[in-house]
Amino acid sequence: MTDPVRVEPVRVGLVGVGIIAETHLAVLAERDDVALEFTVDSRPVGPVEFRGATRPHYGELARALDAHRPDLVVVATPTETHAELTVQALLHSEATVLVEKPLVHDLASLAELRNLDGKADVRGRLFTAHHFAFSPEVDWAAGLIAANPDWGPVTAITSAFYDPYVLRGEAAFASYVSSWTDSGVNQLSILTRFVDLTGLTSLRQTDGGASAWCAVGFRSRGEAGTARLRSSWLTGSSSKESNLVLGHSGVEVWIDHTAMTGFAARAGELLASFGNDGRTDRKVAHYRPLYASLLSGRPDPVLGFDAAATVTAIHHSVPEV
Ligand SMILES: NC(=O)c1ccc[n+]([C@@H]2O[C@H](COP(=O)([O-])OP(=O)(O)OC[C@H]3O[C@@H](n4cnc5c(N)ncnc54)[C@H](O)[C@@H]3O)[C@@H](O)[C@H]2O)c1
Repeated sequence: MTDPVRVEPVRVGLVGVGIIAETHLAVLAERDDVALEFTVDSRPVGPVEFRGATRPHYGELARALDAHRPDLVVVATPTETHAELTVQALLHSEATVLVEKPLVHDLASLAELRNLDGKADVRGRLFTAHHFAFSPEVDWAAGLIAANPDWGPVTAITSAFYDPYVLRGEAAFASYVSSWTDSGVNQLSILTRFVDLTGLTSLRQTDGGASAWCAVGFRSRGEAGTARLRSSWLTGSSSKESNLVLGHSGVEVWIDHTAMTGFAARAGELLASFGNDGRTDRKVAHYRPLYASLLSGRPDPVLGFDAAATVTAIHHSVPEV
């Protein structure tokens, strides 16, 4: 009898110990194939517990990379710091780098990352946490539409994302930049599960960047369609929904991203429905399949550099009005 092969755990360095880091830590802690190597945050934070123990903590990524050889660096810092930390992680380690969405906050930063090709294997090592694309109701709706080609192309989409960030004031802008930067990227990454995006046709940001309205063109089964995306922070509650219309057949698919539920209907007839057992935290439900995909050795293309480049290019393709 031979000994089972011992597989070394993936050593993870986590940069940014803020709100979303809690979800990363919770999901990583569930996985036997992962060990936390270090944490980094530029502000003083309390000890970060991982499976009941603490790991070395640093105030700067550079110091952590001098002392450790991580296999995976997770960047969960404010959006405007992503590009700089990503370049550092790619050039000063051999790790895979998972960056929170959006990958970058402007087109110049995207070009900077693209220009690293040759110095670092950007396509092989750099991934973006487009977590909404992994949400269970999105997965369900994409599977349902793919399994029913007779429903025809998706002809129109409306998506509305509301976050109660008005309550966080300036801190929301510091972490997330604007509603369009934060929710727009989530909405676009969801759309890539259903249609091929072609480009923005209009974009209007209001309320000092706390709200946005955008129209984006797409193609579905060879036909052109339009998606309307609304987002706003002017609310006390979170609510996120998308509606897909397959106009030729009269089928509509409603997905509720807050409740992680969905249904499909045609006129007065319910065609299909989707729910959950209410036991899984919404963010954990996104990041569990995301990490399963990333660590599978064959990451879903929605995590890859080309998907992030497409979403970023479309996201920034119309001058802000
Ligand atoms: N909060 C969410 O629900 C959520 C969900 C998905 C994605 N995201 C994305 O994750 C990112 C972080 O969001 P958040 O809500 O956790 O923000 P946050 O402000 O709560 O946390 C960010 C942390 O990064 C630290 N930081 C800042 N600059 C740093 C640097 N140069 N080096 C090391 N640490 C640094 C901050 O001190 C802070 O602790 C954003 O890009 C956001 O779009 C957030």
